[in-house]
Amino acid sequence: MNDRFPIDLKINGQSYSVDVSACDTLLDFLRDQLGLTGTKECCVVGECGVCTVIVNGRTVNSCLMLAAEADGCDVLTVEGLATEGRLSPLQQSFLDHGAAQCGFCISGQLMSAHNLLTRKPHPTVEDVQEALAGNLCRCAGYEQMAEAVLDVAKGAKE
Ligand code: FES
Ligand code: FES
Repeated sequence: MNDRFPIDLKINGQSYSVDVSACDTLLDFLRDQLGLTGTKECCVVGECGVCTVIVNGRTVNSCLMLAAEADGCDVLTVEGLATEGRLSPLQQSFLDHGAAQCGFCISGQLMSAHNLLTRKPHPTVEDVQEALAGNLCRCAGYEQMAEAVLDVAKGAKE
């Protein structure tokens, strides 16, 4: 039985027409089929947030979404933040603040923070804390991350 079927979607501004397996998650598809390994894999049950991507303007845990459900969607992954080899202001700010320690959670944190800044360019500390609440960091760099996000809100455009 053929359990693969075609989907069309956009990822980081690029259009794809691909066949996906009925049981593949969006995370599997991004990492295994497209090689976009910036999106990390850990709990695969929606608890840690390392797999966070933005789908149609909303953050989602890509481990909980089937690739087939992304048919027709516009997906942004961490690979889509930098432009022409230059880090985005948010990525640069994370770097400047030493917010990335082991780095494992950082792509998810960046996507949640990016989405917040897109929706609300001048967030409060509480907004940032709420936006990052679903992204766990075992190195506990939360304070530096919040400062990094708030600095972008003060100066640069995301
Ligand atoms: S891997 Fe998706 S939430 Fe943990
Ligand atoms: S920087 Fe290590 S898990 Fe967050």
